[in-house]
Amino acid sequence: MKIKISPSILSADFGKLNEEIASVEKYSDYIHVDVMDGHFVPNITIGACVVGSIKTRLPLDVHLMIDNPEQYLEDFSKAGAKILTVHFEACKNLKAVLQKIKKLGMKPGISLKPKTKVGVLKPFLPYADWVLVMSVEPGFGGQSFLENSLEKIKWLRKNAPKLDIAVDGGINEETAKLCVKAGANVLIAGSYIFKSKNRKLQIQKLK
Ligand code: DX5
Ligand code: ZN
Repeated sequence: MKIKISPSILSADFGKLNEEIASVEKYSDYIHVDVMDGHFVPNITIGACVVGSIKTRLPLDVHLMIDNPEQYLEDFSKAGAKILTVHFEACKNLKAVLQKIKKLGMKPGISLKPKTKVGVLKPFLPYADWVLVMSVEPGFGGQSFLENSLEKIKWLRKNAPKLDIAVDGGINEETAKLCVKAGANVLIAGSYIFKSKNRKLQIQKLK
């Protein structure tokens, strides 16, 4: 499978977001946007109105780390999300949420926290186009990669050979190799890309 790169703007300068995105656009496949509400995770970032002001030719991969994501699906669809990922732990009726995302014309994604067992996703895989394995505790950039994510990626690849499997948190040139070997085909990286002066080179090193 082709390896795709999704830079996470959490580590970019939010004061000049469109310029930051322009600096990585040519070398990337998606733009990863972290939405946090201060409840599901202990940090707050941006909502649909800021997402709607992002200008890029790349598809927006929006990662909702919020409680009650079902309340905001239309807003993110209107804001231009192409892939909309919700957390297993945040949904009362995950299947219905995934179906609604699809109905709104976006690709449905499921994410799970490091402590959640991957097997719980089995009944929901037919309704998802994308699974995002969190390889750090969600909430902040710049944390270290958690090795138990590799087993989850292997399990997902075995159970859903054609699925897009994304990994998010602590990705650098070393952990990227391990994730690709385990079966991931989308690498989401924040600090590794945006904290570097040579972003093009960093992205090339991930591939
Ligand atoms: C964390 C976010 C990630 C974050 C990853 O909750 O979901 O997307 O930006 O940051 P790095 O790549 O620095 O670990
Ligand atoms: Zn994320």
